[in-house]
Amino acid sequence: MHLTERETAWLAGNAGPAIRRAMEIVVALGKIYGAARLIPVASVQISGVSYRNIGAAGLDFLRRWAEEGARVRVPTTLNPTAMDMQAWRAQGFDPAFAAKQREVVAVFARMGVGGGRPIPTCTPYLIGNTPAPGEHIAWAESSAVSYANSVLGARSNREGGPGAIAAALTGRTGAYGLHLDAARRATLRAEVTAPLHSIPDFSALGAIVGRAASKRAPYFEGLPLAKGENLWQEKLKALGAAMAATGAVALYHVAGVTPEAATPAILAPDHETLVVDDLTPGYARLNDAAASVDLVWIGCPHASLAEIALAAEAVQGRRLRAPLWITCARPVKDATAAQGLAAEIEAAGGRIIADACIAIAPVKELGFACVATPSAKGAFYLRNLAGVAAHFGTLEQCIAAAVTGKWEGKKTGRSA
Ligand code: F3S
Repeated sequence: MHLTERETAWLAGNAGPAIRRAMEIVVALGKIYGAARLIPVASVQISGVSYRNIGAAGLDFLRRWAEEGARVRVPTTLNPTAMDMQAWRAQGFDPAFAAKQREVVAVFARMGVGGGRPIPTCTPYLIGNTPAPGEHIAWAESSAVSYANSVLGARSNREGGPGAIAAALTGRTGAYGLHLDAARRATLRAEVTAPLHSIPDFSALGAIVGRAASKRAPYFEGLPLAKGENLWQEKLKALGAAMAATGAVALYHVAGVTPEAATPAILAPDHETLVVDDLTPGYARLNDAAASVDLVWIGCPHASLAEIALAAEAVQGRRLRAPLWITCARPVKDATAAQGLAAEIEAAGGRIIADACIAIAPVKELGFACVATPSAKGAFYLRNLAGVAAHFGTLEQCIAAAVTGKWEGKKTGRSA
């Protein structure tokens, strides 16, 4: 692999041990994936932030790197933590766990992440970190990578935890995979004839196509969606997140909507075709048998203000029996307070949670055995990461579950 003089010096340790370690990771990954050279990245997004997931060993690894002088070289943002960094007590977190989680974020802050004041979120693009079309970035959160590649037209592979930190410290990543034109062609054509009425319907569609696509880039035709219409970004956010979770899809194209869909020959001539005429399997596969619902979780990926407004409308005049947690980035939480949406949610018994992802929280330890969500990705990870039972349904079904504490069948309703 070709390295510049500067990169060679970093790898030799001339700029200290922190950057040498980072260069070793970037170069090793580049060699594994056949990169001919490194390329500069405009921004980085780091995952592996939950103390529940990284534990004492992960925190120690980060601490040592920071003590060696690790400092980010490009604008870098942070994925969600396990808890609301301010309101964790009200969520029921143990102070000992909270102290460790706070330390993880503090170490990233010392490295310069978020300019020293990180805002943990999986939707950095909703709070101003919006890469330009064609820009090379190194993001780690799979749903954010999908959104950046597909909706924004930026270029990122799905970075792992240490790989993303290494990219942040060097400002480099290997020129391979989705940074190159060849990997951006679609090899699966998804012809959608099923009616789609809501954001969760797009999530259910993503669950079906993600499973079939695996790592391939799908090209969607027939989606009832126009760029700029109400909730178009939220629908694509849900679609991409579900495909990233149920498959390993990091890029998709939507005819007439996403920026690269009109690129000549973007659909490979030898593509396969998948016809989706029914969303039922997308919902049904992510529903467990448990009848009781202990928690309803909205905001996977982190909710936009518009999504929270939909939830506020849905809970109006209702009294919730099961807790309702809506996760979002802190600036979005602040906006919900300013606009009175937080008060409407709280009046029904719900709560807006900043900074956190419930799938990477110690859900069982918090006393929840079954969680309902209108997100296929959320249900997938609740089962596979948090190890609890899950229900995936429409917003209407999820709010009904919060009111009664029960899941009412597997119907696919027509809510927003
Ligand atoms: Fe975000 Fe967690 Fe969902 S990181 S995409 S809220 S699983």
